[in-house]
Amino acid sequence: MVSTSATAARRLESADRSSLALDQLDARAVGGVADAIFADAALPSDDALGGVDELRARWTRAFLDVREETERRAAPLSPEDQIIQSMPDVSPTKWHRAHTSWFFEQFLLVPHARDYRVFDQQFSYLFNSYYVAAGERHARPKRGLITRPNADQITAYRSHIDAAVCGLIDKAPTRDLATVFPIVEIGLHHEQQHQELMLTDILHAFAQNPTAPAYDEGWRSHQPGMGVTEFVDLPEGIHELGHDGDGFAFDNEGPRHRAFIGAGRIGRGLVTNGQWLEFIADAGYTTAALWLSDGWTQVQTEGWAAPGYWQSRDGQWLTMTLGGLRPIDPDSAVTHVSYYEADAFAHWAGKALPSEIEWEVACRSGRIADAFGVVWQWTRSAYGPYPGYRAVAGALGEYNGKFMVNQMVLRGSSLATPAGHARASYRNFFYPSARWQFTGLRLAEDRA
Ligand SMILES: [Fe+2]
Repeated sequence: MVSTSATAARRLESADRSSLALDQLDARAVGGVADAIFADAALPSDDALGGVDELRARWTRAFLDVREETERRAAPLSPEDQIIQSMPDVSPTKWHRAHTSWFFEQFLLVPHARDYRVFDQQFSYLFNSYYVAAGERHARPKRGLITRPNADQITAYRSHIDAAVCGLIDKAPTRDLATVFPIVEIGLHHEQQHQELMLTDILHAFAQNPTAPAYDEGWRSHQPGMGVTEFVDLPEGIHELGHDGDGFAFDNEGPRHRAFIGAGRIGRGLVTNGQWLEFIADAGYTTAALWLSDGWTQVQTEGWAAPGYWQSRDGQWLTMTLGGLRPIDPDSAVTHVSYYEADAFAHWAGKALPSEIEWEVACRSGRIADAFGVVWQWTRSAYGPYPGYRAVAGALGEYNGKFMVNQMVLRGSSLATPAGHARASYRNFFYPSARWQFTGLRLAEDRA
């Protein structure tokens, strides 16, 4: 027992020495703290209690930072803005704010906080997203029909959850922390995912408004893209892939495994709007031979002639952004393109999309620019389980595993991704027709 607590104390010390940017919720650092003390189930004993208090304080700060970021993102939006659901894939801001709170209530507070009082018994039905094991739920396409509870009541719900979670972190018996902290952690990463959705969803809603309102007048819509001109070699051979155990990761990022990539190259930069204009000018959207069959059907059904949110006025291309309607910047990375469009563009360019394995190898070796923080990048990889993947038992096992069919993997992160939420092993996934996210591409080619 003595050696166990000494180990725990040493780990706490080393965690303290590392530059833990918890005030910005550096995900790696938060995960590192949990790993530092729970890596081999070495629970702290009495002589490490000072460290435990510090851990509790860190988790409280991390929790509140993420919760406040959600409210910061909602702050420019009126109660009316927060109700709108402009298509079934979009959720109202108010729903995001409530659902992320319900997640903590359902998976942390109800099972683990003694004497916790559920805020409202009807909220589980209203704000459960897709967790079948957590009970019946409201139909997703009808989320925009819910005017009550109103925005103020959701604010009160969030405050109720905040107080209860902070109380649990502060007061939970030390022996329970190995259970409590990992659930807090996944709840925070879950909330960060919804923070990105809040922006993409309100952009879609505002894009339906003929007055093209701005969410944020100062929104920087210029995003660097380097074009397809420069390709860098991919290191042929067998590589270790997936989450390496350092910090937090979702279950779909593991198990770590080996995979082979052949000789090839990958685009150093992202495809730009200027290059997309060439694709349009060269009849890209009207040449069936460039398109996958499902993609061609989509083009015709939807009348696609340009990326999402683009519109042509008096011979000039404009696009709807979170800063309102703006001229297309030819040097920015193209965004709001579907997998179908990305694939057709690659075909037109005589290239291909990288596989997710090629992307990860290139990213880890520092070969590519703008891997993070600009646009999510479509890969040609179907979203499926890594070898040996098993979803955990229970409702949280529904988080990722049950979606592993019919979707495509995107890598990197976007300008809307919260700080600390991106990593080389992250696997985002969407249906191939989706384009309301900040989705773009880089190209790849065979070296032969
Ligand atoms: Fe969710």
